[in-house]
Amino acid sequence: MQPSKHTTSRRSFLGKGLVVAGAGVIGAGAGAIGTGLLANGLPAFAQEGSGSLTRGDVAILSFLAAIEILETDLWRQYNELGGIQDSEVPGGSGSAAYIKALQVLDGDMSQYIHDNTEDEISHFTFINAYLASKGADPVNLDRFRTLPSSRATGAQQIGRLTNLMQLTVDTSWWTRYRSRTKNIDLGDTSAQAIPGLSKGQFPAIPRNDGDLSPNDHIQAIANTAGFHFGFIEQGGTSLYPTLAQGVTNPEVLRILLSIGPTETAHFQTWHDKAGNAPALTDPTNGLVFPNLNASPFGGEDFQTNLIMPEPTVFLSRKFPAVSIIRPTEIGGSGGAVGTVKSWTADGLFIGQSQEFLAVLRGLAEQADNARRGS
Ligand SMILES: [Fe+2]
Repeated sequence: MQPSKHTTSRRSFLGKGLVVAGAGVIGAGAGAIGTGLLANGLPAFAQEGSGSLTRGDVAILSFLAAIEILETDLWRQYNELGGIQDSEVPGGSGSAAYIKALQVLDGDMSQYIHDNTEDEISHFTFINAYLASKGADPVNLDRFRTLPSSRATGAQQIGRLTNLMQLTVDTSWWTRYRSRTKNIDLGDTSAQAIPGLSKGQFPAIPRNDGDLSPNDHIQAIANTAGFHFGFIEQGGTSLYPTLAQGVTNPEVLRILLSIGPTETAHFQTWHDKAGNAPALTDPTNGLVFPNLNASPFGGEDFQTNLIMPEPTVFLSRKFPAVSIIRPTEIGGSGGAVGTVKSWTADGLFIGQSQEFLAVLRGLAEQADNARRGS
């Protein structure tokens, strides 16, 4: 696709607002803003002046707002069935059998699901409010809420942005954070912790009340959720430091440096809990959760209590190993386009329209293209 098509999608989707970032732009009048929009696909803006945001900063914040809206949508689905429904995170009424299976991973799973959901709500709400305060468009994906809800008792029947009932979960983050010789930014690959989850399609929430038994089936669904939580939040853990390198405005940098580590706090929690997923075979579909502490698993790459980032190669193999978030290369697999690709491969957008995917890709490309000072 041509960039202009992306930006057309973005503009038509983002709606009527304009980025009127600097006094110079406002002084030039609406006609000049319109011309800038048509010529460049993004609004004209001033790069100097207090309160102004560069085009790159707006692109980064807009993509992050979209990602946080998508995270909120998927976490709400988890919370309705497996979390705590209250005034902070309303919606749904819980599924006792699903919650019981989640609690095998940790007795506090429902609280953690609730808190992760509330955090994502706060992230997109804040970023959108900040964009609006700078005269930029807040991001709204409501028109794409077309995917079905779970039919299991406890779920709301509303349109969703994301699918949690046909997931193909990449669990290579598990071994990526345990290797002390490999780094995906240097072209290395890492093994799947749960090979079965990386092939086929599996539910991470009960699709209906028929999924609540037999016991090893609902437990497999809870286990899938446990590893999916880690997958989602390791993505956010890489996305923020990756995009932060392209930010210009110090205050926008502060936002990314302050929100990003909360994604890491989520990831660290889920990394720990996933290790408690019991070994089993789902009798309905053959999905295997192996014992990660026993042969042929086990050792440094799989042992379940090795949840802190193992020191590994960074920037160049000539340097000593260092404990780091990985990946973080600009435009790499942890960037905006990389995140959209991995979430698409995850199955999160099964059933979504081509228009939705084009809008998301357009936002991602603009965010990855942002460079400091531009
Ligand atoms: Fe978030």
